[in-house]
Amino acid sequence: MKFKVFDSYEELSAYSAELVAGVIREKEDAVLGLATGSTPIGLYEELIKLYDDKNLDFSKVKSINLDEYIGLDGTHNQSYRYFMNLNLFNHINIDKKNTHVPNGVAENLEQSVAEYDELIDSMGGIDVQILGIGPNGHIGFNEPAEQLKLNTHVAELTKETIKANARFFASESDVPTQAVTMGMGPIMKAKKVILIASGENKAWAVKSLVDDVITTSIPATLLKLHPDVTVLLDKKAASQLEV
Ligand code: PGA
Repeated sequence: MKFKVFDSYEELSAYSAELVAGVIREKEDAVLGLATGSTPIGLYEELIKLYDDKNLDFSKVKSINLDEYIGLDGTHNQSYRYFMNLNLFNHINIDKKNTHVPNGVAENLEQSVAEYDELIDSMGGIDVQILGIGPNGHIGFNEPAEQLKLNTHVAELTKETIKANARFFASESDVPTQAVTMGMGPIMKAKKVILIASGENKAWAVKSLVDDVITTSIPATLLKLHPDVTVLLDKKAASQLEV
């Protein structure tokens, strides 16, 4: 795992966008594993800037998102499909047919989650996976637990995650309690992983990435087993690391 600490969120975002751009420049039909949440918004803004400046072409790029709330369809303004369109896809020349977000309202959820893993395989796996990290060390909605799931599955959100995400909804009771999430398998199989974290509330989870422990009670620690992970932090997220 490589770590890099930036003075500001803006610098972190610009650097992470350059890493993603590098993958696309090397492989025009790269498969991007994308994440939602507050943290990647700056990265997406920087990718849009690169596109606007004619420095990046998404016409052949494919994307696959980590997760989606159950019960929200793509028109709901808190669904992750809506988020992705709003914050990235509507502003670049990616073909929306090549963008994939789990279906949170599938009639047959079981079949739909199984098909998601087949889809990832049929795309040849993920070239670069963007990850945020929860204050509790979750990645996607792989929440701390005695066992973690390998494949895409339906996850129960922890109280902590519901609380953390309540800021986007009218009230905490409006936050869905379940989500479809990629399991640890596709994430660990991604050729390259970029984990980004900003803010003091991530410092504990970030510290767990440098300890000599892997544990399913902090899912992000499993990334220590991955051969190509870059962790990009602002100073606050890095505040519990010894330099
Ligand atoms: P955030 O979420 O970027 O909104 O902090 C990250 C996560 O929970 O994975």
